[in-house]
Amino acid sequence: MKINGQHYRTIWLAQDGWRVVVIDQTRLPFRFETVALGSSEQAADAIRNMVVRGAPLIGATAAYGVALAMRADASDTALDAALALLGATRPTAVNLRWALARMRRVVTPLAPAARVEAAYGEAAAICDEDVALCRAIGGHGLPLVREIAARKPAGQPVNILTHCNAGWIATVDWGTALAPIYLAHDAGIPVHVWVDETRPRNQGAALTAYELGAHGVPHTVITDNAGGHLMQRGQVDLVIVGTDRTTAAGDVANKIGTYLKALAAHDNGVPFYVALPSPTIDWSIRDGLRDIPIEERAGREVTHLAGLAEDGEVRAVRVVAPGSAVANPAFDVTPARLVTGLITERGVCAASSEGLAGLFPDLACGA
Ligand code: MRU
Repeated sequence: MKINGQHYRTIWLAQDGWRVVVIDQTRLPFRFETVALGSSEQAADAIRNMVVRGAPLIGATAAYGVALAMRADASDTALDAALALLGATRPTAVNLRWALARMRRVVTPLAPAARVEAAYGEAAAICDEDVALCRAIGGHGLPLVREIAARKPAGQPVNILTHCNAGWIATVDWGTALAPIYLAHDAGIPVHVWVDETRPRNQGAALTAYELGAHGVPHTVITDNAGGHLMQRGQVDLVIVGTDRTTAAGDVANKIGTYLKALAAHDNGVPFYVALPSPTIDWSIRDGLRDIPIEERAGREVTHLAGLAEDGEVRAVRVVAPGSAVANPAFDVTPARLVTGLITERGVCAASSEGLAGLFPDLACGA
């Protein structure tokens, strides 16, 4: 993604060749600030506090967290401690577990002296692969947008609704749900994106709108409750969202509120697609409602809203009466029956065991 004319991935190595630089997403869209992570503890804090977020980027950051740990101490004990620390940061995105398992597989058989270089190499490979997977997702999603555009009166944009942020900034580059939108826009297909604000942390308003704006994609930010109304009025042609964990049978966990959008889309005959790279598939489970752990985050995210104050500082203000109880489930599960299709790096398939196994016979075996 280009920001101020310069191409950025969301994670890269510092000039010193070992620290890991990320964009501080808690400061966006008001400040473009980077943070250099110098230890596995700092990488874990960045994931837990959502300096970085989005399933693929969480996995990439955790992978580099293992490399940082190995640089400090390449012993088995240090490896186990880093895997445990990083693995406990956020429970829902399965990319975290996937990346840590991959790092463990690569590092464990090696003698300590060889571990640092191998860990950095593997983390870099995870990042490069994520870019390729997301670009491929974009390529497979593009025809869906093109087909809808062909049915619309000339010049009328394809109206796409998305929830949360599943774009460049949630991945290493390109994004998942936003990748087909970027490619469509770049191909000259008129698109317009309805951006759900995505309370409580406002990833839509703060991050999706920011990156769509940076790429020049027309978009409108709406409240989380507006989507159903717009669908009833025929103002949404297509929904595309990302996911933090998709089961082998096609149930989809994504940011809280996604399920309500899927229900509204179903009721109004609007196609509802989920874009995902294969590391987001949890082949070990089938029933999302029963088996996907849903993160509960701090009540402060509900009681307080962060934004740019008139003095130019980013501050939080209280929006809930003191004393009220709050609950903050961060994700929900959309059953496969409400999902029109899954857009993956290998193509589009039905949200079902058969659909996923058809595209990923190598990964699905034994699921
Ligand atoms: O809590 P977040 O901001 O990490 O949640 C992110 C999402 O829900 C995204 O939709 C999901 O991770 C897919 S990112 C390509």
